[in-house]
Order: sequence, then C-alpha cells, then structure tokens
Amino acid sequence: MKKAISIFTVAAMTVTLLAGCGSSASGSTASTAPAATSETSTVTTTSTDAASIADSAAASTNVDLSKAKVGVCIYQFSDNFMTLFRNELEKYLVSKGFSKDNIEIVDGANDQATQTNQIQNFITEGVNVLIINPVNSSSASTITDMVVKANIPLVYINREPDADEEARWKDNNWNVTYVGCDAKQSGTFQGEIIADLGMDKLDMNKNGKVDYVMIEGDPENVDAQYRTEYSVKALEDAGLAVNKLDDEVGNWDQATAQQLVANALSQYGNDVEVVFCNNDAMALGALQSIQSAGRTVGKDIYLVGVDALSEALEDVQAGTMTGTVFNDHFAQSHSAAEAAINYITGAGNDHYIGCDYVKVTADNAQEILDKVK
Ligand code: GAL
Repeated sequence: MKKAISIFTVAAMTVTLLAGCGSSASGSTASTAPAATSETSTVTTTSTDAASIADSAAASTNVDLSKAKVGVCIYQFSDNFMTLFRNELEKYLVSKGFSKDNIEIVDGANDQATQTNQIQNFITEGVNVLIINPVNSSSASTITDMVVKANIPLVYINREPDADEEARWKDNNWNVTYVGCDAKQSGTFQGEIIADLGMDKLDMNKNGKVDYVMIEGDPENVDAQYRTEYSVKALEDAGLAVNKLDDEVGNWDQATAQQLVANALSQYGNDVEVVFCNNDAMALGALQSIQSAGRTVGKDIYLVGVDALSEALEDVQAGTMTGTVFNDHFAQSHSAAEAAINYITGAGNDHYIGCDYVKVTADNAQEILDKVK
C-alpha cells in the first residue's frame, strides 16, 4: 500500500510541476536520482489521504527535507535580478520544509574559477542537490561532469547551457535539468512594445527608419544574445525598417550602461529614437543619461528593459520608461526548488522546465508591481 501511495504522489507532484511551469516535454528521468542520505530517508508517511500527502513533498516520498542539504551557486550576488531570485529561492525552500541552516548560497563573484571551487566544496560536503547559476554557460559541460560523477542531482538556473550540453543530459539519462524562461520571448516582447507605438511616433527624424541604440548584457549569456536579436527582429517582423546607431556591452550593470548611453547620446544626439537595454538595471542607467541630456522618454525618445524591477515598474507607470518585460523570479525560483525536491525524493524531472515572460507597459505595470512588491 505504501508503494502505491508513493507512486501516486510522485506522479501528482510531477504533473503539478509541469502544469505550473509550462514545461516542454523533453522526456522525464523519473526514479534515477540518488536518494537523500540514509538519515533523511526515514519512512514518515502513514496517512493514506492523497490531498494531505500531496501537500507535503517531504511526506509524499518519505524524505525528511529538513535534513536535506542544498548547495546554491549564484554567478554574482551584486546582480539585482539574481538577488530577487536567490532570496525568493531560499524563502520558498524553507516554506517547503528545508532548514535554513542546510541551504548554503554562495557568491561566484562573476569568476568561473571561484565558482568551480565552490562546487567542488559542495561535492566534498556531500550536498543532496545542487542549484547552479553558472558564471559562464560555456563551462556547463565541465560542471555537469563534476557533479554527475559525484552522483549529485543538478538544477541549472538562469543561464541556459547550449543545446549540445542539454542533449547529453537526455542521452545519458542524467539527473540534470535547466529551469528558466525563453530569452527569445523577452526580446520579442521588447520589440513589440516599441513596434506598437507605430512609425509616426517612432520616426522623429523622418528618415523612414527606427534609429536605435542597443545596450547588451554579458555577451556570453544567451539572454543577452537573444534579447538583442529578437527585439530588433520584432520591429522588422512588424514591417518597420531599422537602423542600428550603436551596440555596446553593459554587462547587466547600471553604471556601465549610464556611461554608454551618455556617449551614444552625445555622439548621435536627436537621431537616437529608441534605447533597448537587455535588462532593467541598464535601462535605469540609460534613463539617468537620457534625463541628463535633456531628453524626455515618451516624447522624444523611447526606452525598454527586461526584468520588471520595482523601480523600473514605477518608471513605466510614470512614463519615464516605455516598458519592460517581467522576468518571473517567483515562477523560476519555485520551479527550481520543486525540481530540487523532485530529485531528492526520487521523482525526477524533465531536462527543461520553462516559464513565460510578461510584457509590461503603463497598462499593467501596477498589476506586476503588486506581485513583486
Ligand atoms: C537575466 C536578467 C539580468 C541578469 C542576468 C544574469 O535573466 O534579465 O538582469 O540578472 O539574467 O544572468
């Protein structure tokens, strides 16, 4: 009977996770995860009430999550968006029964060698699961090899490894998954926000084109690559001609973007009609320079970011930013925690767990602000 309960619950948990995240079906790897330590595998379930079992991941598969150890590697603590993400991740893991003392979150300080050492330390410590936001996505295969060899399940977040790397997880039936949103969608939404304004508003210098400046995040990151490509593609798909005045790397950083946009504005002046920033931190920096140059967003220039930081949402409401795209750190951190639980309990996961971005303009900024505040 106990076995039947646990199979039912594992299936229910998996269904819930997939339904909640819009996960793509890349094949599940159920039941191959190493269980938590024998200490954590004590049988605790006696109830046959399915609802109460499903309420508690710990009870559902007889694992005491309060004893499970989670290692979390963040690429850089000073990143605004990843700060929201990691705080929510910790909060959610605790709400699911993990002990705060057993959740160790470390700062990779944007240095892959530092992070690789931290992963090695977690392996030596014998954590039950690793959640990793890689410094360099291109190091994923090395990271995966280390972690899989140690027989520890691995949840990548935020910085998606490439297709070849993801294919290895599937081909080898490894307990490795990626949780994140589709960066192409965020770029498309940025472009659509601008395209929807129409050529009459956008083409202020009347050259028949949308003249734009692009401020990119870390160019090694697919989020930066796809947002750059798909924002412009959305303008072209809407039938608008485009003219790239400048394309610079701001590395997700507000102060860097502020300087880059100040330079672009002094070089191209009133010809700059749109500033695309791959994230909100950089859009906030861009806004400072736009205002110092005596330009007015919504009147003689347009500005979009991604993330929906609360400060940016307030700007969207006030009209000092044209729009942003909500990068749902709640959905992503919760899915990452659920994936970690599914590995610890032996339920397994798909190798890709997705979520949706949300387009934000003045029309829905309050709604998103209510969510993030
Ligand atoms: C992106 C986010 C950026 C930055 C980056 C880090 O998804 O939009 O603000 O946090 O992740 O990899």
